[in-house]
Amino acid sequence: MAGAIDREIERLFGKLGKLGWSRDDCELIAPVTLEINELKREQNAIVLAHSYQTPDIMYGVGDFVGDSYGLSVKATEHPARKIVFCSVYFMGETAKLLNPEKQVLVPRRAGCSLADAVNAEQVRTLRGENPDAGIVCYVNTYAEVKAECDACCTSSNAVEVVEAMPQDEIIFLPDRLMGENLARISSRKITVWDGTCVVHEGFDVNSVRDIRERFPGVKILAHPECAPGLIAAVDFAGGTEGMLRYVAESPAQTFMLVTECGLTDRFKAEFRDKEIVGTCILCPYMKEIQLDDVLQAFKDPVPEQIIEIPPDIAARARRSLDKMFELEKAGRKLLQERGRGKLPWTAAS
Ligand code: 13P
Ligand code: SF4
Repeated sequence: MAGAIDREIERLFGKLGKLGWSRDDCELIAPVTLEINELKREQNAIVLAHSYQTPDIMYGVGDFVGDSYGLSVKATEHPARKIVFCSVYFMGETAKLLNPEKQVLVPRRAGCSLADAVNAEQVRTLRGENPDAGIVCYVNTYAEVKAECDACCTSSNAVEVVEAMPQDEIIFLPDRLMGENLARISSRKITVWDGTCVVHEGFDVNSVRDIRERFPGVKILAHPECAPGLIAAVDFAGGTEGMLRYVAESPAQTFMLVTECGLTDRFKAEFRDKEIVGTCILCPYMKEIQLDDVLQAFKDPVPEQIIEIPPDIAARARRSLDKMFELEKAGRKLLQERGRGKLPWTAAS
């Protein structure tokens, strides 16, 4: 056992040392990560870790690290019969919708200021009041909300989905700022719901200007949940995986990520030759999840941690996700025809 613990400390230090963790820090968590990794094997399980999780979760126990939708899709390709999704609750629900035959657990039933901003009843009311409008929901919604919408979208395909909707008038929910970003570039009339992400609404365009002055040549990347004024001032806008691709392919050396701190950690760990500058903001919901919660979810899960979606809601929510794939394809074709395929959030229409 001592040998196994020593090897685990070395493995952790190899990953977390780059992020400022000491060998002592790694020694403290090694018994927990070791036990979780053994339980994964025994229970034929995988751990999905969202990029906004802390590094001990991402690199200590995560089998896959990524964005919410990409991780759920990854799980469909993996033979494991159990998924522990280290993330907020709505992301666990999406994983369950895409992996209905698997057991899906979340270490904590953590909220999200966007998902918590709208419920199914409110969408039904919107539908009644706006019978001719199409309703598109961002993936940051609960299954009961997805079930009431015409199509779902992610930050990486929102522009394509909205452009391919058959209606001229689109109600976009729950993210007001993402909706305003869409309205700026879309050919559709977009009405927004008044939800915001507590992380991305917190960034100020002045911090972007300041970083440009201090670091000539810096490339600035922002999540489209940020305000339109800020999005207009950056080099790239997109979801977490889009940012990752941008940095991997860019010849630039210095980057600012206008997003949650977990992603900044991930970039520091994975792009050793690049410099990440500027500040980030922590998501209080994502950070509710601790390593001990993950261990507990494996050893003695309580009903609150096990995701169950009533079948009728699951079927309608799944339809909204399936529609997203269909519209994404059609929308990509449309954008390519208009010459905006590569930078949908920032290029003018
Ligand atoms: P992704 O969809 O890129 O995983 O982002 C999730 C999120 O919570 C953004 O704030
Ligand atoms: Fe929700 Fe924002 Fe946190 Fe993402 S970062 S989980 S959108 S509150």
